[in-house]
Amino acid sequence: MPLIELRGLTHVYSQGTPFEKTAIDRLDLTVEAGGVVGLIGHTGSGKSTLISHLNALLKPTEGTVLLDGEDVFASKASIRAARFRVGVVFQYPEYQLFEETVYADIAYGPKNLKLEKDEIDRRVRQAAAFVGLDDAVLDRSPLELSGGQKRRTAIAGVLAMEPELLVLDEPTAGLDPAGREDLLEKLFAWRRARQATVLLVTHDMSIAARCDRLLVMSQGRILMDGAPADIFARGDELTAVGLDLPAPAHIAALLRQRGVALPPGIYTAAQLTDAILALWRKGGAPC
Ligand SMILES: Nc1ncnc2c1ncn2[C@@H]1O[C@H](COP(=O)(O)OP(=O)(O)O)[C@@H](O)[C@H]1O
Ligand SMILES: [Mg+2]
Repeated sequence: MPLIELRGLTHVYSQGTPFEKTAIDRLDLTVEAGGVVGLIGHTGSGKSTLISHLNALLKPTEGTVLLDGEDVFASKASIRAARFRVGVVFQYPEYQLFEETVYADIAYGPKNLKLEKDEIDRRVRQAAAFVGLDDAVLDRSPLELSGGQKRRTAIAGVLAMEPELLVLDEPTAGLDPAGREDLLEKLFAWRRARQATVLLVTHDMSIAARCDRLLVMSQGRILMDGAPADIFARGDELTAVGLDLPAPAHIAALLRQRGVALPPGIYTAAQLTDAILALWRKGGAPC
């Protein structure tokens, strides 16, 4: 049984007004439990609207959202269950920190779950550790933190809910390259440790390249769905919907143009490095 199944999902904003906008258009999608699914697409393609249905924040105009085969909107209880089982980190979540201390902010969700104090404490400390926040920071006001620490606090608040499906909308946007890499590693480590499923919305093709499966959205529909290698082999189609290839794929293409015999299917820095080293070892310099 798939973890998530969307059947004919349609979302129309401001229906019946001059501002009517079909953001999601009869979209079908199945996500099995486990792994990291990347969601890419040009601005306005419907990514944020799509993910807002997964934890029942938005109600479909038409179609259904199934969580473990059950309609999320069947009852108040099923809506509540979806809110707890699916954790969504929206874009720039640090603007939603509002408690007096970092600890209280991270504890907000688990408190809503009506857990015991000890269990809340365990979850807060574990979630903080997962995102790399020191214990010393927990008693401070979120206002005193750096931008990166605020982002981590907001993410820890969702991790502390221990969701089965963690959905992140551009979690690394605005972070410097080192902060981006560190946060990404921590999120991947969290997923592995908890055997959870992650759906990651990103503009960053080097992040997309590291997902297990990639979905490409365009105009409210899923245009491509497959392994990153297969998606990035379709460079022209990506360009046509306003997306780019990861930088290593561009570099590999330039090297091939200059006569370096690189194999196809290179789209991560690691693959490019390995391919160049392999040529080097075979016969001195690669060209
Ligand atoms: N609250 C809203 N009211 C009206 N239109 C919206 C609203 N939110 C998004 N839209 C429109 O829906 C479309 C999809 O938006 P969105 O889901 O935010 O795309 P993405 O996250 O891929 O940038 C866009 O055309 C956007 O302008
Ligand atoms: Mg968006």
